Amino acid sequence: MKQLKRTGFIVFLFFLTESLTLPTKPQDIDDVSITQKFIEENLGFITIIAFAQYIQEASFEEVEMLVKAMRDYKDKCLADVTLPMCSELANDVLMEKICTVEGLSQKRNFSHCCSKVGFERRLCFFHNKKPDIGFLSPLPTLDPEEKCQIYKNNRESFLNNYIYEVSRRNPFAFAPTLLTVAARFEEVTKTCCEEQDKANCFRTKAEPVIHYLKAVSSYQKNVCGALVQFGLQVLNSINIVILSQKFPRIEFKELISLLEDISSKYDGCCEGDAVQCIRGRSKVMSHICSKQDSISSKIKECCEKKIPERSECIIYSNKDDRPKDLSLREAKFTESKRVCEERDADHAIFFANFLYEYSRRHRELSAPELLRIAGVYEDLLKECCNTETPSECYSYAEYKFNETTEKSLKIVQRECEHFQNLGKNDLISHYLIKLTKIAPQLSTDGLTFLGKEMVAALTTCCTLSEEFACVDNLMDLVLGELCGINGNQNINPAVDRCCKTSFAFRRPCFDGLEADKTYVPPPASEDLSTFPTDLCETHNEELQRKKNRFLVNLVKRKPGLREEELQSLLTDFTDVVERCCKAEGPEACFNEEGPKLAAKSQAA
Ligand SMILES: *[C@@H]1O[C@H](CO)[C@@H](O)[C@H](O)[C@H]1NC(C)=O
Ligand SMILES: *[C@@H]1O[C@H](CO)[C@@H](O)[C@H](O)[C@H]1NC(C)=O
Repeated sequence: MKQLKRTGFIVFLFFLTESLTLPTKPQDIDDVSITQKFIEENLGFITIIAFAQYIQEASFEEVEMLVKAMRDYKDKCLADVTLPMCSELANDVLMEKICTVEGLSQKRNFSHCCSKVGFERRLCFFHNKKPDIGFLSPLPTLDPEEKCQIYKNNRESFLNNYIYEVSRRNPFAFAPTLLTVAARFEEVTKTCCEEQDKANCFRTKAEPVIHYLKAVSSYQKNVCGALVQFGLQVLNSINIVILSQKFPRIEFKELISLLEDISSKYDGCCEGDAVQCIRGRSKVMSHICSKQDSISSKIKECCEKKIPERSECIIYSNKDDRPKDLSLREAKFTESKRVCEERDADHAIFFANFLYEYSRRHRELSAPELLRIAGVYEDLLKECCNTETPSECYSYAEYKFNETTEKSLKIVQRECEHFQNLGKNDLISHYLIKLTKIAPQLSTDGLTFLGKEMVAALTTCCTLSEEFACVDNLMDLVLGELCGINGNQNINPAVDRCCKTSFAFRRPCFDGLEADKTYVPPPASEDLSTFPTDLCETHNEELQRKKNRFLVNLVKRKPGLREEELQSLLTDFTDVVERCCKAEGPEACFNEEGPKLAAKSQAA
């Protein structure tokens, strides 16, 4: 990952000598020391997060061993800061410890990373992260009474285990987010363990926490994917859009200085350097909170919170209101005679300024759409600035922007129509068919996951007033998920092209994709004709899961069938299940009906 910086990592100072009492007034906070203290106090959790994300296969016992090693290290350095090992980078120390646990690197298959040093080693660990966690057993579900007992008896071990399980299943989630999630989960546990109906309490109260984690980490993955694939410039553009929409009153100069902090933060966070990520984030948030008056009116309460809640709160706070004196149109980019001159003086700043001015005025547009508009503008100027009369040429710019937006609007409208017209089951089938046709190489689990995410996006967005931005933002996240983060995903040439050509135009690119032509279906196996005998015992959600899998496998086998034909075969499948489960002997019924269905799909 060439985009991640080789240098610039802050030394991990365990040995901060100032003693601190928590200040009461936020503006008095010495943020660096607070952050330092936070890191020291949470060293155990931080170690678990980093380790479980790098080596997802590691057992909890192995993780605990490493936590102990890191604690010893901290104690040694607190006792004598002049030891040479105490001036090393936190993440390097951690990797070194991971590599020196006897036999671990062979057992968990990462010795190739341990034989490297420095940047190469970090890169290797990064590539060891696996987005597809199918190899992990499902999250163990404990009896709530038992859970509360464990929590009561040993809070730390309970939380350690929780963080371990969540981190290895979300290898790209940022450390502060995981710490926030753990803190919230502890709140849920505390509350629910007091309740009579603990099971119900856990179910309802844990749901939003998990939902939060999924949403946030999906966004983080998407941005990191953009950084890895397209570099710093695209990362900056994304952040300009997000900041300008959220803080429309911020001045451009302030935005640019904030941007530098933010972009350098992403290096650590995306790479999985938990300590660096926490530090970088703190820096950004103190920056924002110290200039609240000129940035936003909506973050006062957030700034009074402690880390890591403070940053999560700011990031997910509402967009600030548009300043009253901000006109809806910014003429300087389409009417000024000096556009080409200004562009040539400093490309990066010029287009950053355009994106800023356009985004702060258009909160109703999605982030990808604003990036598309900037792309259209850039292309237009390339053309216009070479003509005799540039200003005449680019005076049509606004028309071009509207044209792009309308195209994207149409796609979203069509999608929300699907949502309105199709029932929930037909909707998921529609997307499963579409996704499987374009990326049949993905695993059945991976495809059903993406299909469900698409339906969830439409369910969330299609009734909102900001429907367009919501759909376009969330659908783009699903595509980000499909494209992957650390380059481990290689699906087929057409999909790869959409993932790698342009971040902004990814969605229109996917929209134009047809079934993958390079794909050769696997030879027919018995899959489609054999029905598992437990099918009649499964209900609702589980049955829907089986139907989704049937459909995806069917499309993988017969990618040439039209959507209606596939839907019809799925209906047959559902009918067979219904009929046979009512029959005297379901097994005999399945044995008879299964092959018929398989033959029908074969003949189709
Ligand atoms: C071990 O890692 C190497 C390098 O990433 C990989 O090629 C190999 O398939 C892995 N072996 C196992 C058993 O996972
Ligand atoms: C572009 O769209 C906006 C908003 O719909 C509209 O106010 C403006 O007149 C349009 N401009 C052009 C040149 O079509």
